[in-house]
Amino acid sequence: MVLSHPFSCPTRVIEGHTYHQAVAQLLGARRWALITSRGWPGRGAMADLTRLGSGPAAILDDIEPNPRVSSIVQLAQALPDIDVVVAFGGGSVLDAAKGAIALKALGNDQVALMAHLRDGVALPANMDPVPLITIPTTSGTGSEVTRWGTIWGDDEVKYSINDAKLYPAYAVLDPAVCTSMPAELTLGTALDALSHAMEAVWNKHHSALTDGMAAQAIRLIRENLAAALEHPADVEIRRRMQTAALSAGLAMATTQTALAHSISYPFTAKLGLPHGFACSFTLAEVARYNMAEDGARLGAIASALGCSLAAVPQTLEDWFTELGVGKVLGRYVTASFIESLSGDLISRARAANNIRDIDGARARQLALAAFEKLCPAESGQGAQNSAMLASAE
Ligand SMILES: [Fe+2]
Repeated sequence: MVLSHPFSCPTRVIEGHTYHQAVAQLLGARRWALITSRGWPGRGAMADLTRLGSGPAAILDDIEPNPRVSSIVQLAQALPDIDVVVAFGGGSVLDAAKGAIALKALGNDQVALMAHLRDGVALPANMDPVPLITIPTTSGTGSEVTRWGTIWGDDEVKYSINDAKLYPAYAVLDPAVCTSMPAELTLGTALDALSHAMEAVWNKHHSALTDGMAAQAIRLIRENLAAALEHPADVEIRRRMQTAALSAGLAMATTQTALAHSISYPFTAKLGLPHGFACSFTLAEVARYNMAEDGARLGAIASALGCSLAAVPQTLEDWFTELGVGKVLGRYVTASFIESLSGDLISRARAANNIRDIDGARARQLALAAFEKLCPAESGQGAQNSAMLASAE
């Protein structure tokens, strides 16, 4: 018997404080560097952070969305010898910081990094990265409490860096830093958190504990997302969304993600569709697909959505239509693009976590049905694809 995926998260989560006061206390007199994205250093919030102690030894603010291996290499080389890294930003910043502290701890050994990313070779046991303090400025990624980060190959392949030493030492949660998020980023990141929660439920590695965290996340997003979009400066609503992302992240930290994330990667790599939309637009169809395997497994989702088990897919579709997900999707995706995909939609590591197996052709059919329901103007084929899926059950 293999006792895989026990619940565990060594990251200490700090809430209830202004982030720079909390970070000041955590840093003490240690030398530190700041990793963030362009735009933040010019804002007032960042001034509060950079005034701490004697200031950061370096401010590395060139983090692009969906960071690539080449940019991680540059980042690690630019990282001075410091005692701790503070990562302030969304998922791309947090993931890039994990990649950089790992590569620097490897003595900038790109061969070892690529062996890990490409071939799954474990990072050396004696790797000793500097501790990481994360301050998420979006509410979706979950990276503040996970041991992995997404890094894209310069050939558009999605890789994960994954090591227990990459759990952040601290996640400092201050919802005030989320109030400047624009509406589409608020929506996309919330959908990412929603996808983490649902993927934790229809996951072979789920537990009663992860189900509970996932259900809390789904309920909080259901109850607060529209309000967060309408009242972006409301810190209490941002706090609830942050709690949702944290709960979903903690659930996912144990289970990892599953089919909806597997399908998402070519949409982000090839079309630039933001991750939150890419990993969520198929949720209703994945729910429908997984219900045929084990309907009761989705009970935590149904109760969190306040609907019957049978109504989960339709409830999600109606909700996503209200949220305008199709408007974003339609700017990036076409039916013909999906039709051109096959094996690309199956990331073995992710899809293997799903409670029901799938092949590339079926995943394409599922993605097409999801797209055509959310973007009916793009094609008249949605009902037809749904009927095909239903008849194939
Ligand atoms: Fe995600």
